[in-house]
Parts: sequence; structure tokens; C-alpha cells
Amino acid sequence: MTTPAMSPQQKARLDAMKHQFQQRRRIADHMKRVKHKVAVYSGKGGVGKTTVAVNLAVTLAQKGHRVGILDADIDCPNVVRAMKVDRRPEYDNERFIPSEKWGVKVLSMGFFQENEEEAIIFRGPMIHNAITQFLEMTDWEDLDYLLVDLPPGTSDAPLTIMQTIPLDGFVIVATPQELAKIDAKRSINMIRKMNLRVLGVVENYVGEVFGSGAGEALAQEVNAPFLGQLRLRSDYLDTSKPTVLLSPQVREEYEHIAEQVIRALEEKAASA
Ligand SMILES: Nc1ncnc2c1ncn2[C@@H]1O[C@H](COP(=O)(O)OP(=O)(O)OP(=O)(O)O)[C@@H](O)[C@H]1O
Ligand SMILES: [Mg+2]
Repeated sequence: MTTPAMSPQQKARLDAMKHQFQQRRRIADHMKRVKHKVAVYSGKGGVGKTTVAVNLAVTLAQKGHRVGILDADIDCPNVVRAMKVDRRPEYDNERFIPSEKWGVKVLSMGFFQENEEEAIIFRGPMIHNAITQFLEMTDWEDLDYLLVDLPPGTSDAPLTIMQTIPLDGFVIVATPQELAKIDAKRSINMIRKMNLRVLGVVENYVGEVFGSGAGEALAQEVNAPFLGQLRLRSDYLDTSKPTVLLSPQVREEYEHIAEQVIRALEEKAASA
């Protein structure tokens, strides 16, 4: 009996499946070389996710760990500026070799903009493709920590990251304001719906202006560890370096948070 020939549509579907399978395998191979994969997240914009991701990455690198940061904010990539990286990643043999600054390897869509103010107008599937291509092509080599800076919201980029990287967990950034708490809760609900883990909550912008305590209350409400507070400070106005390299007070805050994140990762490993 002869097998009927495949239609062009069937062949195209089969090729797409093969490509997707190969892409997933390549991503899995890269991720196997990364010990801990942690995303920094909140449903709300402007709460300090990028600031936390960058300063936490630099703090971990200063402690002697091998660290990378992936900017998963495809349309408004800010990690390049926050890290003050000037060199683009090298492209070699269909691989990106991430740029390195302050001991941290960096990959971001920001490297591929003609100019920083260029609008990147992508629909959801394009965002998904950009992230999966980054993950497929980036050779991080051996890392202790890969931090993923997520954009706000609970759709395209966070969903792709959650479905594509075997994440150890999420650091949630909350602020003392009520609305930010609701959005942080939305992101926590998404994480849990996807059967992933919240490593803990960081409270940013703490002080006289916005108050304090909402981060810890949120952590209790959602039964997750409270990782620490970050005060609202003028030190962040100096953008010449990540603030942990400029301010001993900020460094102290991040050292505490880094220890708590490491502890949460150890607890996760112990409970696995
Ligand atoms: N503790 C702080 N004190 C003072 N300024 C801060 C603090 N944390 C962050 N900022 C500043 O607030 C601004 C917004 O921070 P950031 O870009 O990290 O937020 P984000 O959550 O990543 O925003 P987006 O949702 O747009 O990605 C930045 O200019 C940053 O320097
Ligand atoms: Mg950001």
C-alpha cells in the first residue's frame, strides 16, 4: 500500500512543527547551563522592575556569581540604558554572545534599535517570536543566575517567558500604593495559574512620600516570603552606573534582598 503524498499545507505544518521542536531543544540546551532562572515581575508599570533586575544582577555578580540579564521587554527595552552597556552583542555562527558590563552578561532588544527613541511596534506573535529567537540564539555559557526583566501586564511577553523557560521563580516588585498592590496580585495569580513559584515580594519606593508596609502585607496575603524594602532615594538620579555601585545604603538594601532570593531558591530546591 502506498502512502498518499502530503499536501503543501501539510508539509508546511510539519516543517513548522520540526522548527518549533528544534528551537525548544536549543533553548533547553542553553537553559541547562544556567543554574537559577529568576524573573522580576509585576502587573504594574513603573514600579521599579528594571531597576530591581539590574541592581540585583550587579549585586550577585559582585558576590562572585556568574550572572546574566535578559531584557524581555521587547517594545520598551530599558536594560541597555540602565546597565550603561555600549557594546552590542557579537554575532557568531548563528549565536549571540551577550555583551558584558559590571560582570553581568546582557541581552536586550535595545541593542538592535537604530536609535534609542525608535518605536518598536510589534503585535503579540512578533513579541513571542523575538523572545524565543533571543532564547534560541543566545549563548550564555555557564551561569549561576539568569535574571529576566519582564514588562508589565499579564499577556504576551510574560506568558512566552513562563511557557518557554523553566523558571525557578519570580521576584515580585510592589510599591506602597494600593493600585500597585492589585496589579502585583494579578501577576501573582498568573504565576500560580501557570504552576510556577513566587520567590517573594520586594517593596520599592518606601518612605515618607508613599509610605511603607504594603509589600510585607502583600507577601503575607499571598503566603510568599517578604524579600525586603527599597527606599525612595535621590541616589537613583545619578544614572552613570547601577545605583548599587554608587550608594552604600542602596548596596546594603540589595545585599539583603540578594540573600533572601538565594535563601528562597535553596528552599525551593529543598522542597523539590
Ligand atoms: N527606590 C527608588 N528610588 C528612586 N527612584 C527609583 C527607585 N526605584 C526605581 N526608581 C526610578 O523609577 C523609574 C522607573 O523605574 P523602572 O524603569 O525600573 O520601572 P519598571 O517597573 O521597570 O518600568 P516599566 O514598567 O516601564 O518597565 C526609573 O527612573 C528608576 O530610576
Ligand atoms: Mg522595566
